[in-house]
Amino acid sequence: MALMHQFRIEGGIVTYKSRFLKSDCYKENVENNRIVVSEFGTLAMPDPCKNFFQRFLSRFERQSKNTAYTDNASVSFVQYKGDYYVSTETNFMHKIDPQTLETKEKVDWSKFIAINGATAHPHTDPDGTTYNMGNSYNSKGASYNIIRVPPEKSGPNDTLEGATVICTIPSGDRTKPSYYHSFAISENYVVFIEQPIRIDLLKIVTGKMRGKGISDGVYWDPEKTTVFHVINKHNGKPSPIKYYATPFSTFHQINCYEENGFLIMDMCCSDDGNAINNFLIQNLRKSGEALDEVYNTICRTFPRRFVLPLIVGNNTPCELNLNTRQESTATAIKTGKNKVYCTHEDLHGDDLQEYGGLEFPQINYTKYNTHPYRYFYACGFRHLVGDSLIKTDLQDKHMKIWQQPGYYPSEPVFVPSPNAVEEDDGVILSVVITPNKDKSTFLLVLDAKDFEELGRAEVPVNIPYGFHGAFQAGI
Ligand SMILES: [Fe+2]
Repeated sequence: MALMHQFRIEGGIVTYKSRFLKSDCYKENVENNRIVVSEFGTLAMPDPCKNFFQRFLSRFERQSKNTAYTDNASVSFVQYKGDYYVSTETNFMHKIDPQTLETKEKVDWSKFIAINGATAHPHTDPDGTTYNMGNSYNSKGASYNIIRVPPEKSGPNDTLEGATVICTIPSGDRTKPSYYHSFAISENYVVFIEQPIRIDLLKIVTGKMRGKGISDGVYWDPEKTTVFHVINKHNGKPSPIKYYATPFSTFHQINCYEENGFLIMDMCCSDDGNAINNFLIQNLRKSGEALDEVYNTICRTFPRRFVLPLIVGNNTPCELNLNTRQESTATAIKTGKNKVYCTHEDLHGDDLQEYGGLEFPQINYTKYNTHPYRYFYACGFRHLVGDSLIKTDLQDKHMKIWQQPGYYPSEPVFVPSPNAVEEDDGVILSVVITPNKDKSTFLLVLDAKDFEELGRAEVPVNIPYGFHGAFQAGI
């Protein structure tokens, strides 16, 4: 169940509080004292107190009375029109009070636009306009939609009023659309990466009868290529050019920007898309050699850069590398009408192997998202969860590292210094947890420039491993 955490730093004092999100499925599960609403990897099972035949029959009933889809928004804090929400990937979000962590109203995307869910990673333009993506399903199959939410409220109780779908892209395989966790924006474009992690809609529909969770219908198809769709933010038109790459999976984008007719896209990539199933509870409960065995089969995630030429016409020659930027080894070759095949540049040196690759990338988002930039921050993954913090300098691909044995830091959140001029003038915040009973969980503060520790605030409680955090000044 989604548990929200808050560290409040004020006048040299740090206070901590946490609250469960009071979602409908939280309330129903508490009422029934068991899981009655299915989650991504957890199928709500019939009441174990029933006898075998009653349990067989109840497989065909809905386990939850009120909740068809989970509203357990456990992935991230997001903002629309200046208000905070917590989000997962279904059509439900919850507005929350960022001061008290109280749960406010439940918001259903499908009441505003014809979509059946939205990612937990929207992007925001400097004027507050927010973009997201969500799938829709009709008798013809699945489609991907680009969503725009206006920056201004029209009334005090406004949520997603005024949201529009600016572009709809039919899935190449209508019953097996691509799974996407996020997408990228540049100044003028939205970039959707159609990756070979697929959702088998039939398997999900029949999953309950087979006793399987939603995750059983999500699979990696290495026979499929990866396709970049570039959509004009202003008029919603998709570029006729499709950019292709070898099969890879990506969960989090680092940054994306336009420069001299090229779109530079940086993201965390893995050559295998089976990562989702590594985090099944059966694996997380393992220890020692058995856990090492799981970890050793996981394909690592590394930061990569793709350079997409935006100007490709009928007269553009085939078989030539269209990436004329000297500073990147990425390639882009026209292979046919409206088709460009891309290879990447590694955004790391060999030394990243030692830290297990990286994930949970963060940048100085407010000032540098959609702009040329130099630094990004992430977690190194020598375990099933992150065990180091990494700062990468893209100029020379050198890294700075924070790590301490037995400690597992969360996604690094960059907070700029007031009146900062330099990109990395600020601090990194990370929640560091440990399974060691003699040690404490703490909020770590690093100087973002040299990665030296500025301080830590220990809390005498266990905090579960989390996904994404947010910083807000002056609330
Ligand atoms: Fe995420």
